[in-house]
Amino acid sequence: MTPIIAKTSITILALGAGCSAAAVKGDIYGERTWHKYVRSPNTSIVKPKGILAANITGNPDDLDIPSIVVDFGQNVVGVVSIDFGQSTNSSQGLPGLKFAFRETQQFLTNTSDFTRSDNLPDGQKIITGSDQIAVANEPATWKNNASCQYGEQVCSDGLHGFRYMKIWLGALESDAPYTQPYGDTFFANETDPQDSATPTLEGKRVIFDGAKRNRDPYVGDLAIASLTSYLSHNAPELTRNIPVDLTNHQREDGWIPPASIKITKKSVHHP
Ligand SMILES: *[C@@H]1O[C@H](CO)[C@@H](O)[C@H](O)[C@H]1NC(C)=O
Ligand SMILES: *[C@@H]1O[C@H](CO)[C@@H](O)[C@H](O)[C@H]1NC(C)=O
Ligand SMILES: *[C@@H]1O[C@H](CO)[C@@H](O)[C@H](O)[C@H]1NC(C)=O
Ligand SMILES: *[C@@H]1O[C@H](CO)[C@@H](O)[C@H](O)[C@H]1NC(C)=O
Ligand SMILES: *[C@@H]1O[C@H](CO)[C@@H](O)[C@H](O)[C@H]1NC(C)=O
Ligand SMILES: *[C@@H]1O[C@H](CO)[C@@H](O)[C@H](O)[C@H]1NC(C)=O
Repeated sequence: MTPIIAKTSITILALGAGCSAAAVKGDIYGERTWHKYVRSPNTSIVKPKGILAANITGNPDDLDIPSIVVDFGQNVVGVVSIDFGQSTNSSQGLPGLKFAFRETQQFLTNTSDFTRSDNLPDGQKIITGSDQIAVANEPATWKNNASCQYGEQVCSDGLHGFRYMKIWLGALESDAPYTQPYGDTFFANETDPQDSATPTLEGKRVIFDGAKRNRDPYVGDLAIASLTSYLSHNAPELTRNIPVDLTNHQREDGWIPPASIKITKKSVHHP
């Protein structure tokens, strides 16, 4: 069985800005009246103003991908750093987080409005669109220093200019096996080495038997995997999808296959 969801806790998020208005005293005449026009933050470490309550997704009771939007209060430029409390993963791949930056909410999507890799030629880009992190199991401070955590995988693009920062659980396929996305979705092209695909499973979220070997939705696992997934992830859909698919393939004589492997070929594997 493969676990599903990574639990990640972020404690502190801060931005190291290059300059700050507090450093600016009076001008050569000792005049300070113009200080009110200074728009840059007055400290070199800028803390976010808050998290936009209206834009939190990922109610634990449903299967939305958890995401938040962090608001720094005004446009800022700098290097984001985050103190992570902990993360857990019970199969290969640390929990993945993705980030996108924008100056306005209106255009905040899963890709940054501008990121420094945009200006690099193909082949030299560190990222395309979003920044990525593999969140360590132990408490750690992560800093967006324009580098990759594993060779050329799990990369972030360094300095950004923005007001809003969207953070969500997720991983690029190209970052496997170092990070894992939120949830396991059955896709024949990714998860089916043993002929287990049926149209009724495609795109459904399931519990897999055999993280590497079968990757097969299998009824035998549910006795334990379902219970643990209720406890850890509160995601009943994962359990429901398996028996629903198996009963969809009930034979004329009443027999219900125990696993999706070769289900459409009268279950040669599990006769
Ligand atoms: C810095 O700016 C914040 C908000 O704009 C303000 O509350 C705070 O008093 C300022 N601190 C200093 C030292 O000027
Ligand atoms: C979590 O993922 C990391 C990185 O892939 C891996 O080294 C570690 O063994 C995984 N933990 C478990 C319990 O599988
Ligand atoms: C946040 O939610 C509000 C209200 O639904 C919406 O107007 C705004 O565009 C959202 N912002 C983002 C960044 O999604
Ligand atoms: C964008 O992120 C949201 C989670 O905030 C996710 O539901 C959606 O699938 C993502 N879209 C793309 C194209 O990656
Ligand atoms: C970037 O940060 C990581 C930790 O997040 C660290 O291991 C790495 O050495 C840093 N690289 C540079 C060039 O500072
Ligand atoms: C597999 O198919 C799904 C759904 O069409 C698609 O989103 C995904 O990118 C495909 N994966 C690969 C490795 O081609």
